[in-house]
Amino acid sequence: MGIRKKVIIDTDPGVDDALAIAYALKSQLLEVVALTTVFGNSQVDQTTRNALSLIKFLNADIPVYKGSGNRIDGSNPSVLASSQAGTVSYFNSRPESSMGEMNAIDAIICCLETARDSISIIAIGPLTNIAKSYQKSPESFKDKLERIWIMGGAINTYGNISPVAEFNFYSDPMAADIVLKADIPKTLVPVNACRKVVMTPEELKSLSGNSLIEDLDGLVGEYMRYYVNQERLGGAVMYDPAVVGLCANPAFIRKQIPLYVRVETAGELSLGQSVADLRPNSQNKPNVSVCLDLESAPLKSEFYQALSRQNQPNWSK
Ligand code: RIB
Ligand code: CA
Repeated sequence: MGIRKKVIIDTDPGVDDALAIAYALKSQLLEVVALTTVFGNSQVDQTTRNALSLIKFLNADIPVYKGSGNRIDGSNPSVLASSQAGTVSYFNSRPESSMGEMNAIDAIICCLETARDSISIIAIGPLTNIAKSYQKSPESFKDKLERIWIMGGAINTYGNISPVAEFNFYSDPMAADIVLKADIPKTLVPVNACRKVVMTPEELKSLSGNSLIEDLDGLVGEYMRYYVNQERLGGAVMYDPAVVGLCANPAFIRKQIPLYVRVETAGELSLGQSVADLRPNSQNKPNVSVCLDLESAPLKSEFYQALSRQNQPNWSK
């Protein structure tokens, strides 16, 4: 087995986040060094509790650092939490691992500065923590950051939280725009690609023996029903596991193009929209590599294999 790619996962668990974290932890290609939490699918206190319980459940010995509860401009996103499937407090009554001492912003900087070799970031929530860490210490992102893999945006297609916006970008458009403008290696995985990774009800049933799926107490089923109705793709879009799969296996990228992408931070109808400059004669220098298509079959196969390596939880139900 080759050297595992070291990753920090910045996350707002969230059902698909939970599955993505389990995938990353059980992947033979990744080494998760830390989780950093952010608001999004729920308030940051809840996403942090979910992350702590998930880590405990998965018997993972990794630190969880609590991050931003408000958007980078200080505004309160509380209205968001009721607007998205995966708004969950699924592990409330469960034991939790202990929270890391630092806040997520300093933890991201510290991980980058103390890493022996390169480290990647998998960003599967609103980009507030990443934007704040970059603003606080851009130099920390220079040497050791291999790449940041971002779940966000909708490139010239419909959104999932508004006609034009994807949830993570919509949740903190200013942070998303700051990260896209940042001079760091980044790959954006928008809904265009994620919608190719759909867990069907039949596949969920075939995972029914999996202790994580079981312990999510039917929340994956609830998430499934929400997305079957919302996205009409015959199953649940596995947004966050798709990004984990691509970070672990860049060869699963079927189509990617360098683009100049910004995020609308002021529009009434278009708030959070990812605006890509697709003009053939664009004078804008590309700022991100955008994955527009992926190999869903091998990615899903690896995802489900990783979930099946899930050992039993370390407490009785
Ligand atoms: O738009 C999908 C994204 O928003 C996913 O990361 C999901 O977990 C939510 O955070
Ligand atoms: Ca997420």
